[in-house]
Amino acid sequence: MPDHAVLFTRRLPDAVERRAARDYRLIANPDDRPLTADEIVSRSQEADAIVCCVADKMTAVVFSRLPPRVRIVASFGVGTEHLDLAAAKARGVVVTNTPEVLTDATAEVALLLLLGAARRAFEGQDMLRSGRWTGWTPTQLMGHQLSGKRLGVVGMGRIGQAMARRARGFGVEIHYTDQARLPPEKEEGAIFHPTIEELLPLSQLLSLHAPSTPETRHLLDARRLALLPRGAIVVNSARGDLVDDEALIAALRSGQVGAAGLDVFQGEPAVHPGYRTLENTFLLPHMGSATIETREAMGFRALDNVDAVLAGRAARDRVA
Ligand code: DGY
Repeated sequence: MPDHAVLFTRRLPDAVERRAARDYRLIANPDDRPLTADEIVSRSQEADAIVCCVADKMTAVVFSRLPPRVRIVASFGVGTEHLDLAAAKARGVVVTNTPEVLTDATAEVALLLLLGAARRAFEGQDMLRSGRWTGWTPTQLMGHQLSGKRLGVVGMGRIGQAMARRARGFGVEIHYTDQARLPPEKEEGAIFHPTIEELLPLSQLLSLHAPSTPETRHLLDARRLALLPRGAIVVNSARGDLVDDEALIAALRSGQVGAAGLDVFQGEPAVHPGYRTLENTFLLPHMGSATIETREAMGFRALDNVDAVLAGRAARDRVA
């Protein structure tokens, strides 16, 4: 009988569940139903570790109610805004995330959003699937080419850099803003702007890669959207609350923003209905890291952190 028990709040890829069940007593969630705070607390009574996800709200109340035997909360994902890190610290529980392993998958989705929005992929799909396509015409669904355009990257961390690298391959010139300028080997020729206000006016394409914090909430608001060149294409694969939805929808309606590609939404799984009614949006359901390779790697990385803490070692990805 294994010494320790691990609670998975959601169903994880089979290979991850197999490894967890091999090494621990796995308290699984085979129906994959989102758990309430009470259920997380009650299911963790026998657990030494919890593997939770971005959709689980690990509030101060939840941390304060965890039984003392829980030593680590390993979050399956890189974002940490759903975790009250101060409360975790106060309670003395280690918290970890899964950086690096989802960089490429998320950057691929950012590029997909950029292409999908720029090339009117939603309208093309819709026309075809609804049987409204009557054949090729010289002026049908003309979009915008990426090559020769300038991309503004807001947040040049791992994912921002990976997105920039991919966009560069499409002949795009890269500009970025972040808290500080990157060293040349990380910039790879990208042009630094100390403020977002300086970046926006030249960003024909704009991609958000900042974390969700009180400071970045509604980072892209009506005032800043007005600074973009008219018809700019806006992509968000980071967090929904970076964008003021009302302002972006108004800009999409007026043509100030030509198209938007969005994988994340404020208050998701709710999606502002304005986005659904617009044709110039290309929308995905928060699937940036959703590849088999990446989701397995995220699960293994979370389990590596659990293994370390339960064996009395330091966790590689400790965030609290
Ligand atoms: C994360 O890791 O924070 C993602 O949004 C979930 O894949």
